[in-house]
Amino acid sequence: MNSQSARWNGVIDRYAKYLPVSDATPLVSLSEGNTPLVRVDNFVEAIGGKFELWLKYEGLNPTCSFKDRGMTMAVSKAKERGAQVVICASTGNTSASAAAYAARAKMKCVVLLPHGNIAQGKLAQALMYGAITVSVQGNFDEALRIVRELGETGKVDVVNSINPVRIEGQKTAAFEICDQLGRAPDFHFLPVGNAGNITAYWKGFKEYHAAGLADRLPRLFGFQAAGAAPIVDGHPIEKPQTVASAIRIGNPASWQGATNASKESNGHIGKVTDEEIIHAYKTIARTDGIFVEPACAAPLAGLIQCVKAGTIPPGSVITATMTGHGLKDPDNAIKAAGFEPFVVEATKAAVMKVIGL
Ligand code: F0G
Repeated sequence: MNSQSARWNGVIDRYAKYLPVSDATPLVSLSEGNTPLVRVDNFVEAIGGKFELWLKYEGLNPTCSFKDRGMTMAVSKAKERGAQVVICASTGNTSASAAAYAARAKMKCVVLLPHGNIAQGKLAQALMYGAITVSVQGNFDEALRIVRELGETGKVDVVNSINPVRIEGQKTAAFEICDQLGRAPDFHFLPVGNAGNITAYWKGFKEYHAAGLADRLPRLFGFQAAGAAPIVDGHPIEKPQTVASAIRIGNPASWQGATNASKESNGHIGKVTDEEIIHAYKTIARTDGIFVEPACAAPLAGLIQCVKAGTIPPGSVITATMTGHGLKDPDNAIKAAGFEPFVVEATKAAVMKVIGL
């Protein structure tokens, strides 16, 4: 399984040693992982920080989100067991990823989406990859409850992050960050929705540290949207609301994993308003040319809060996960941009006039 060739063959091939796979596991991969870690000095300057910030640009995975790391594991293991149908509930990215990997594995895929509440690009992906797409008149938490019940019939394989192999795949992002930086960061920031990813990162950082491949353990700082912040508020939210539809979740499946990661790492789970999210979303696009979906701006907004509060020691090395690509959610992008294209006659003079020449 672990060919370790010079060519990148995805996260299972690269990190097989740390994953529950064997020679009997069929490799279902789209060459996910190996995403860029981009230093963003302009953003740091714009927010008045005195530290290094590196963004793990997970929007550059094959289906444009971090979910592909977990899905290569979940679908490979499902195929190994001889499963025929995979199923998930999703705010859009898990479903896009499940649909793509199931297609590649020649398996059937069923996705349950909160009706009217997922970004257009993600809906397009589920439909294009050919998943049986079910729009549930309810929110993500209700869709996940139905998926759990269907999983108990034994007729379908659940590929949400309640399936522990999803977490195993996703922890490889923490490995890559240490490999790319040549050390572990002092802080790692990321958005929190169903809380699988923060759980996975903490597991990954701990395992790499134990293997002697990372010199320290980072403090994990996770951020929820203020209208969907059950962990911060200390109770499930029945009707979660936020512009960041990816993390519009009221009762996270990995709640405990998130609180453990925060406590054990001396970290923090905080919340940011939609206004703070939109501000950070526009800022990172305009200072450093990195276009992410709104959920990714939650940890950036959280970092701005930390700068204001003075909680980051000068000289710190910080990493943050940009979980999904900005093109997933064109509607919010066009709304947030704050201006429309100039429509002009097809003449040089008309163009000169609007650009002020
Ligand atoms: N960012 C994006 C872009 C996401 O799609 C998600 C979760 C998260 C952050 C939060 O990660 O759930 O591990 O805490 N999306 C799931 C989905 C819920 O269905 O695509 P988490």
